[in-house]
Amino acid sequence: MTSAPSAVLPAPEAHAASLQEQIQRAVDELMAEVPNADQLSANQRRGIIARYDTVLEANFIYWMTATYLSVMSKEARTIILDNLHEEVGDCHPEMLRRFTLAADAMPTDTDILAVARDLTNVRLFMGRMSGVKNIVTMAFFEGFIQKFMTPFAEMADRQGSKEQEYTIVHGLCDITHTQELFRALAAEIAINPPHSTTDLFEGVDLLGTLIRTIVHCGGGLDRVA
Ligand SMILES: [Fe+2]
Repeated sequence: MTSAPSAVLPAPEAHAASLQEQIQRAVDELMAEVPNADQLSANQRRGIIARYDTVLEANFIYWMTATYLSVMSKEARTIILDNLHEEVGDCHPEMLRRFTLAADAMPTDTDILAVARDLTNVRLFMGRMSGVKNIVTMAFFEGFIQKFMTPFAEMADRQGSKEQEYTIVHGLCDITHTQELFRALAAEIAINPPHSTTDLFEGVDLLGTLIRTIVHCGGGLDRVA
């Protein structure tokens, strides 16, 4: 998906509101592709959990940190720091690892290699340190994670797991995180406005491709025979 460039950008708040709408639409489009847990075989459910773990456990805090390093506005920095404090203080990577282990979905080398190319593309993108683009990407990521938690919990449940702290926490706190990132986006646009021809959805496209690989790799959408 590509944001439509316009010759004259609106005021920061209006521009941020327009981006918010586009991000939410991109999340909804992606969620429409997520299969129900009962449409998947046990092996397909295990693969989705394993690939999600591979990407999120090691990269979410890294990418939020890259976003912190990228932004110029004080308000955006404060909002992103709050997010990082929660991630690190409550040890979200460990929470996710418990979820994955309980669903018997520890990543294998096959799972790691399945997402490697798309993961590298997002890593390189985040490392280019574009403040506004990185916030847009992370707002999309938070928005997706929050909505994905319901089907994700169902997949783990069908794998025989009762461990749902990760999905409960992220189904709730990521609503606030997403809203806060939209506020950070408006603050950053105000002092670091992007050029009118910049594609602000470059990271959303790359991250969307990675998430589609998590969800669909190995025939994730095939119906159970
Ligand atoms: Fe988290």
